[in-house]
Amino acid sequence: MAQDNVFKIGLVLPMTGQQATTGRQIEAAARLYMAQNGDTVAGKKVQLIVKDDTSLPDQTRRLAQELIVNDKVNVLAGMGITPSALAVAPLATQSKTPLVVMAAATSSITEASPFVVRTSFTLPQASVALADWAPKNGIKTVVSLVSDYGPGIDAEKFFNARMVNNGGKVIEALRVPMRNPDFAPFLQKVRDLKPDALFVFVPSGAGAAVMKQFSERGMDKAGIKLIGTGDVTDDDQLNDMGDGVLGVVTSHHYSAAHPSELNKKFVDAFQKANKNLRPNFMAVGGYDGMRVIYEALRSTKGAGGGEALVAAMKGQIFESPRGKIYIDAQTRDVVQDIYLRKVEKKDGQLFNVEFDVIKDVKDPGKAK
Ligand code: DHB
Repeated sequence: MAQDNVFKIGLVLPMTGQQATTGRQIEAAARLYMAQNGDTVAGKKVQLIVKDDTSLPDQTRRLAQELIVNDKVNVLAGMGITPSALAVAPLATQSKTPLVVMAAATSSITEASPFVVRTSFTLPQASVALADWAPKNGIKTVVSLVSDYGPGIDAEKFFNARMVNNGGKVIEALRVPMRNPDFAPFLQKVRDLKPDALFVFVPSGAGAAVMKQFSERGMDKAGIKLIGTGDVTDDDQLNDMGDGVLGVVTSHHYSAAHPSELNKKFVDAFQKANKNLRPNFMAVGGYDGMRVIYEALRSTKGAGGGEALVAAMKGQIFESPRGKIYIDAQTRDVVQDIYLRKVEKKDGQLFNVEFDVIKDVKDPGKAK
């Protein structure tokens, strides 16, 4: 097929290293979307080019540059962590290439380039609902513990400010290194401070280690609850975390247990295609990101210029496996429902079971 008839999506993801589960989930979801929707859109053959950046932002930038210059991709996508998205944003601007952020979740990423469109979430979006829930549910004092980089700092800032606003008290704000964190000394400190709850943000893939050490130290028996954004009870790992995680309350935009027909179909199809792997919130960001790209290509009738594609991504509204979402035409960020969930056992498996919802949450990080 002639080159003109190909529409190329350069999907840059961490396929190895600390964030490898993010890459595995998003690639699987993108391939599922293509298997379900075909690879021809508006007369173009859609081609996915997957590159492994090992979650090192210098690699992300180098690979994105090659994809733009050598492969002449129509769209860049993926971006497993915030530093990767921020490293590529200037290239997206210079080359007028849409950059569909499917994972990274620091509020400011959409402001780094007018070519960024986001289908994941933001940490301020996920955090404030929990800070509204906690003081009404016996949690008056907290310590926050976050990964020391963009999304963690967003989570700390928005969760803690909202807690204080709601009459709660933040005893201490702790930050752990993003790479190879050792949670033990931080958890010891939390034990000594004895808050009603520990609020946690760690990136996808690190939650199991936090939960394990939290249980091993008998923090729950000492009367300290663990709460967090849903990154800590990540569906990719949740079922292997053991019964110590039962009852943990988190807030997030996606649970594999979301009880809609569309989600049940999504989870079934994803598990069938991936040796029973349960899709997590990264997968849904990838799946919906592909939808946003496909529909933009369709509505521009295959013309495919970067500015026209971004314009066609703005304002898209649709039902996702997570619930109804839309791309805010002003901010290019995702607007979505945020759920409060509790870890429960269903049919012998651990799930984040939704028990409350805040509808149509815009990123509070942009409300200024
Ligand atoms: C980011 C990465 C994650 O794995 C996550 O769960 C949330 C945010 C990030 O780097 O933006």
